[in-house]
This record gives sequence, C-alpha cells and structure tokens, in this order.
Amino acid sequence: MTRAYNFNAGPSAMPLEVLQEAQAEFTDYKHTGMSIIEISHRSAEYAALHQETKDLLRELMEIPDDYEIMFIQGGGSTQFLMTAANFLTGGGKAAYVNTGVWAKKAMAEAKYFGEAYEAASSADRNHCYIPQEFTIHDNTCYVHLTANNTIYGTEYPAFPKFDVPVICDMSSDILSRPVNVADFDLIYAGAQKNLGPAGVVIVIAKKAFLAKARQNLPTMLKYSTFAENDSLYNTPPVFCIYMVNKTLHWIKNQGGVAAVAANNAAKAQVIYDAIDGSNGFYIGHADKEYRSRMNITFNLADKELEKDFVAQAKAAGFIGVGGHRLVGGCRASAYNAVPMEACTALAEFMHSYQKQHQ
Ligand SMILES: Cc1ncc(COP(=O)(O)O)c(C=O)c1O
Repeated sequence: MTRAYNFNAGPSAMPLEVLQEAQAEFTDYKHTGMSIIEISHRSAEYAALHQETKDLLRELMEIPDDYEIMFIQGGGSTQFLMTAANFLTGGGKAAYVNTGVWAKKAMAEAKYFGEAYEAASSADRNHCYIPQEFTIHDNTCYVHLTANNTIYGTEYPAFPKFDVPVICDMSSDILSRPVNVADFDLIYAGAQKNLGPAGVVIVIAKKAFLAKARQNLPTMLKYSTFAENDSLYNTPPVFCIYMVNKTLHWIKNQGGVAAVAANNAAKAQVIYDAIDGSNGFYIGHADKEYRSRMNITFNLADKELEKDFVAQAKAAGFIGVGGHRLVGGCRASAYNAVPMEACTALAEFMHSYQKQHQ
C-alpha cells in the first residue's frame, strides 16, 4: 500500500488506523449485518455511537457541563450565517476580527442580519499577523474570532479576553491544542480538517448563551432545534459522526489533546526550520509569533520557481503544497493526522530543492 505525504488543507489527511477500522467494519457494523450507513439514526446502535461521540468530545476538550454539544450540517459556511441569525439580535451589532478570507466571509453573512463591523483587521499586511488591539462598540452582541487562518497560516497564540460573548471558528485547529472552552460562548468547527469527512460541524455552546438566541427563525436555522433534540431533530450525518468518533478515539490513544499538541508543535517546527534555515530561499508568510502549526505558508524568494517547486514536490509524493488559489505561494497543512515522518520528508525535500536551485 502506498500512502501519499498528504499536506492537503481540507479535506485532509486522516489517521490511517481510522480509515482501516472503518474499512474493516464497513459492511457489518457491530454484528448487525449492516453498514453504519444502512441503519436507522434512531437505532440503539446509532444512539450509543452518537452519545459516545459527545462524551469523548466532552472528555478530550474538557467541555463544562453547562455547554451543549451539537452536530450540524452545512459546513463552516452555514455557521457564518447561523451564528449571526441566532445572536445578532435586538438591534445590536456584531464585531468581527478580520484575520483573512474566512473571517471576512463570516462578517459578510452577518450583514444579512444586522450591523457587523471590524473590531480589528490584519488586512494592512496581507493577514500575516493576528491583531492584538480591538475596538468593541456599545451594544455589541458578540465578537467573532477565527482561531486559525487556514489560508494565511496564522493562529492566535493566546485568545484575547472580551467583555462581550465570544464566538470562535475553530474549523482548522480544533483539537490540535488545549483550549479553555469556558473562554468562549460558542465554538464551531467543520470536521474536514482535524476530525473526519466534510459534512458535519461540531458546535459547542454555552447553554446560557443559547438561551439568548432568536427564536423566530426557520427550524433548521435555530440552534435550539439541535440543542433540544440532541442533534436528532432530523437525520444527522451518521457516517461523518461515526468517523469523528473514531478520530476522537485515535486522539485519546495518542495521549489526548496535550500530547497531540506537542507533536503538532514539533511537526510544524521541522518545516519552519527548513524555511528559516534557507538563507532567504524560502520566506515564511506569517510573522513568527503568529505562525500556525496547522497551515505553514511560505513563498520562494524567486517567484518564478514556485510553480516548479510545487510540481516537483508533487512528483516526489508531497500532495497539496500549493498555496490557496486566492493567495498563491506554498502551503503545507500539517493537521493532527499528518505524521512527523511526512514533515521530516518535506523538510528534506525543501533542503534538496534549495541545493539544486540556488
Ligand atoms: C477557518 C475556516 N472556516 C470556515 C471554513 C469554511 O468551511 P466549509 O467549507 O465547511 O463551509 C474553512 C474552510 O476551509 C476554514 O478553513
């Protein structure tokens, strides 16, 4: 079997053990004689899986009891509008920290529901840093943060504190490092980077915050529909949740979130060292203190070489190292499931490419 060195930005590498387990039981889930995707979401087998997935998340992320865990479809992009539909209420305003494309898209959706403004922005330097000063207006319903900026490769080293509720998009770094859930009123994360296939979003929300949500909304746009029905008002994305369950077990077997975080830091460092030790052949995009451990973004000093670098990397088995179509350059995404071995191999490839071309 050949496995690629998979640096895709999402959907992205999954732990091999998880894929193999799913494969082994795909046609016969727990001796039912049926696949997990062939059984009712009201069955005892699925009910146990659903509950266990929530329990594992609660355990691994140390989610307090006064927080609801929900599984919602529609991707992170639907959360952009759902957060605003539910919480931009009463003629208030919503504050957005503009750290790049996803933050901007979230803010654009909020404008359908009320006034949304930038509390801070890193646009002046092409989003290579995380702002540290914020302007929060009176009558602000919430501030929205993007924990990790997948496209630009920046990440909050520590989260700022605010006097207003905090909503955070953790789509590209959930479970990659410990976070204090109690610092947030609502966290959302699409599964397709660190948790499983595209198709489910994990939403973790403080019950007291949910109580403030607007209720005159269509059924499927209300968080209360999910919270009050244990995310089983309609058919949940069973297969996605099943895969998330397996990935959570895998994280637990790695030693939990702290162990995974230490590994992630070491993995990213190997690639950043290749950049920093290249005498300017490779140039990191993000300011050092805001570097993402998940998405490592860089350019080649000689722009002409970039396409060739990406093509040569691909030929050598390194998939997904081209930058996002909106910004270009190069990006290696080293999510939880990307092994150290892949990062070391990429760093070696970068060294040898440099030797041949400088
Ligand atoms: C940080 C972040 N938020 C939101 C999204 C959008 O997610 P989706 O494609 O699930 O709508 C992405 C996608 O890559 C992302 O990286």
